[in-house]
Amino acid sequence: MLKIVVCVSGGGTNLQAIIDGIREKKIENTEIVGVISNNKNAYALERAKLAGVEGICISPKDYEDREQFHQAFLARIEQWNPDLIVLAGFLVAIPDQMIEKYENRIINIHPSLIPSFCGVGYYGLKVHEGALKRGVRITGATVHFVDKGTDTGPIILQKAVEVRQQDTPKELQQRVMEEAEWVILPQAINLIAAGKVTVKENKVCIINH
Ligand code: GAR
Repeated sequence: MLKIVVCVSGGGTNLQAIIDGIREKKIENTEIVGVISNNKNAYALERAKLAGVEGICISPKDYEDREQFHQAFLARIEQWNPDLIVLAGFLVAIPDQMIEKYENRIINIHPSLIPSFCGVGYYGLKVHEGALKRGVRITGATVHFVDKGTDTGPIILQKAVEVRQQDTPKELQQRVMEEAEWVILPQAINLIAAGKVTVKENKVCIINH
């Protein structure tokens, strides 16, 4: 059984896609052992509660400095002892110490086709604003392993989504979520749970894919 911790900051629709994926057996052999939010008002925590999953808030605001926040965050993750950490709309930088400890065991969903519209400053709606401003015809989403850079880790899955002429950033965000994020994030977890994902020389290899 793959034990996962899901880290969230907001609405938690990607968390919901994981909860539903497990329930509908699209994700097999996987259990969510905990949810961490940096924001106590995140609706994602409500989703965790409704699903009967333990959800807690660890906010930088409750600690004197970043170092203390990182320690508390890491300590809580270690109590759950997960096999995989899933960043599902988690908008806080992961401490280097944690990335070293969980090498190739942290994944992130990003709402664009990396390497477009990613890196520092590209998160949430800003990604879609950037895509519309540039006038791309195709965007999408990416699931990747987390390394010490911002959105630079090995890519596991990507899915393309059409951009429509009249799209607002919010409309595009919604379509990218529905057509790509909620599809490839559960798929990636299922592949990892099945032991089908390996990383070699910074590239992902998926068995029988
Ligand atoms: C999602 O679109 C996710 O891809 C994005 O935040 C949103 C969270 O929505 N993540 C990033 O931009 C990370 N750089 P959700 O809380 O409804 O899952």
